[in-house]
Amino acid sequence: MTQAATWETQGPVGVITVDSPPVNALSAAVRQGILAGVMALDADPAVKAIVLLCNGRTFIAGADITEFGKPPKGPPLREVHEAMEYASKPIVAAIHGTALGGGLETALAAHYRVAVPSAMVGLPEVKLGLLPGAGGTQRLPRLIGPERALKVIVDGDPIPAPQAKELGIVDALVDGDLKQGAIAYAEMLVKDGAPVRRVRDVPIDASRLPENFFADFRKGIARKTRGFPAPERIIQCIEAAVDKPFEEGMRIEREGITELMASTESKALRYMFFAEREVAKIPDVPKETTLRPIAKAAVLGAGTMGGGIAMNFANAGIPVTVVEAGQEALDRGLGIIEKNYRNTQAKGRLTAEEVDRRLGLITGSLRYEDLADADIVVEAVFENMDVKKDVFRKLDATLKPGAIMASNTSYLDLNEIAAVTGRPGDVIGLHFFSPANVMRLLEIVRGAETAKDVLATCMALAKTIGKIGVVAGVCHGFIGNRMLARYSGEANKILWEGATPHQIDSVLYGFGMPMGPLQMGDLAGLDVGARARSEFPDLFPIDPKYPVIADLLVERGRHGQKTKAGFYKYGDDRKAVPDPEVERIIAEEAAKRGIERREISAEEIIERCFYAAINEGARELEEGIALRPCDIDIIWINGYGFPSYRGGPMFYADTVGLDKVHAAVEKYRQRYGDRSWKHSWLLEKLARAGKGFADWKDFV
Ligand code: 3HC
Ligand code: NAI
Repeated sequence: MTQAATWETQGPVGVITVDSPPVNALSAAVRQGILAGVMALDADPAVKAIVLLCNGRTFIAGADITEFGKPPKGPPLREVHEAMEYASKPIVAAIHGTALGGGLETALAAHYRVAVPSAMVGLPEVKLGLLPGAGGTQRLPRLIGPERALKVIVDGDPIPAPQAKELGIVDALVDGDLKQGAIAYAEMLVKDGAPVRRVRDVPIDASRLPENFFADFRKGIARKTRGFPAPERIIQCIEAAVDKPFEEGMRIEREGITELMASTESKALRYMFFAEREVAKIPDVPKETTLRPIAKAAVLGAGTMGGGIAMNFANAGIPVTVVEAGQEALDRGLGIIEKNYRNTQAKGRLTAEEVDRRLGLITGSLRYEDLADADIVVEAVFENMDVKKDVFRKLDATLKPGAIMASNTSYLDLNEIAAVTGRPGDVIGLHFFSPANVMRLLEIVRGAETAKDVLATCMALAKTIGKIGVVAGVCHGFIGNRMLARYSGEANKILWEGATPHQIDSVLYGFGMPMGPLQMGDLAGLDVGARARSEFPDLFPIDPKYPVIADLLVERGRHGQKTKAGFYKYGDDRKAVPDPEVERIIAEEAAKRGIERREISAEEIIERCFYAAINEGARELEEGIALRPCDIDIIWINGYGFPSYRGGPMFYADTVGLDKVHAAVEKYRQRYGDRSWKHSWLLEKLARAGKGFADWKDFV
């Protein structure tokens, strides 16, 4: 007997209990334990049926991801499943919590499955760049049909137990105590003389599949899954499940997972899985820090950001007061919030009652006094230091002791804002991304004086409102926008030097960005940035040799999509069409400034845009603005759409090799000077040592 799994008998039922915290992942010890339990109970003539269940918060949550890429140890999962499937007496998997990946595959190797109604089941391997590699692609289609199985596996989303019962994944729901319910179910099977029901033997009726099913499915997901090899491999496995015998399908599945496991995409996604958990840990803030209660929130400003921020609180059931400077702005802001909710309702994603409930949690006001009892206030007024200071002075005078004062500033010095209050420890930056009710990222800006419990409370709050919180230090643009300035700065220079907007955008789209920076500019409105640059020149320093081309376009009335002309021209379908007029304007202006134009390769576009950002990221690590490379990666993936299968810019740099990245950075510094290619000693040291950002800790 091992500690990871134990077994006992209760009358005619043998019970195997897995106990391997935190999530009962299928480590070598767990696999060994289940195998030993099945063999022992199968050999015991007094046992007539077997129940497999787990202690702790969940059924098996999958393979042990920490074992991936390491030499195999212990019995392969396949062997465990075969022992289960070929046992001579029925095995019932009893599910609570989340039966995911290898966990569900283990349940599928059992002969019957029961679950508590709150359980979830799923095959999320695709999210790790993998496919279910322990029979999931062969057993699930046999159980629920190839059409539904394909969707479940390619989406990778968890399925609530009641729905899993309807689909046929789960045979029965158990109310009350799971162990007792599962034993009772097993006893019923024994009484009824129920057979061992091997999913592998269930036939698939291929004639019921719609014509061209697989070809149409491939077409349907092509855009969404570009750059990901896993979905295509999954489709091939399901095709095999339909066309080929079980063992042949298992062979194809095995080939698929072996290949995917070695792919950069899967390595990146597995890194992201742990990175998402790592960013929640702040080295000098203990996990046990007592949090401040957040029962009531407030937002200042009901503009583009304030409205979305307020919705986040309401979505999480936290009442929120929105304070504006004037009635008209307040009405407009609240109107937009209502419109957003009603749109979601129209799409069937929220009921009318739920929308009403959430709207009922949002109260508009013009009076600061109405903030007096808020536990947290998020300021989202104009990006202007004087306005922000004025607001924070008023908040200081109004708020109850212990209330958290947060600013949504994108660029301003949080320490300067905090200094106007008598309680800088309560001041923090909560930098939401637009649209604030949709984007998952929350940059949490830690001021010089921000109290640890304020930081810990805001990290927890991020989770409560469905965001991923990442800590950043105070500097111009914090982690993300500071790097973005380098990225877009290079795109601008490259335009001057001869590339067309369409060339730049399509290269960066091809790299995996959701949209190139110029098309993005057209979407957001070129006038917005132009206005900010002219109003706050200090916030947006411009390279005099390469002025911002967007500003030249705005001068010519080209504000982007809204004027049907920006970097592109637009028809009524809002499709971006390359415009020779823009190329003419740029060429003319470049000639005036004596900027030489030339052919620019895709490789140069990628290097300059991303390496400039990566070099800046390295400097943020040196300065302690970012805690770890993974914090930067999480920010770029969740806030800027960097492709997750490349693992974020810092992980990507490691896959390219820092020697190469550093050599290119040096080349561009020679060519363009220090303005946008400032020296990073960290990048240089790592490159010279033949290391990557993964090893950065040994170098600071
Ligand atoms: N392997 C190793 N460690 C795992 C793990 C896994 N499969 N799943 C979770 N953990 C670890 C986490 O890293 C975390 O560690 P930490 O406390 O040291 O940071 C701890 O368990 C708790 O995890 P969470 O913080 O995520 O806990 P939650 O309660 O929020 O979520 C969960 C629980 C829903 C199970 C979530 O952890 C999860 O989604 N896990 C991954 C599930 C998954 O992807 N399974 C498929 C694996 S691939 C596979 O099975 C291949 C097969 O086909 C052969
Ligand atoms: P906005 O101009 O859309 O909204 C600002 C709102 O604040 C206006 O409705 C205005 O009436 C109100 N306001 C001004 N002074 C006020 C005061 N003293 N009291 C109460 N309300 C007041 O601006 P937006 O875009 O929402 O930006 C707000 C903040 O969020 C800025 O600091 C900005 O840098 C930051 N931000 C903006 C992002 C964006 O994409 N728009 C993204 C992330 C941060």
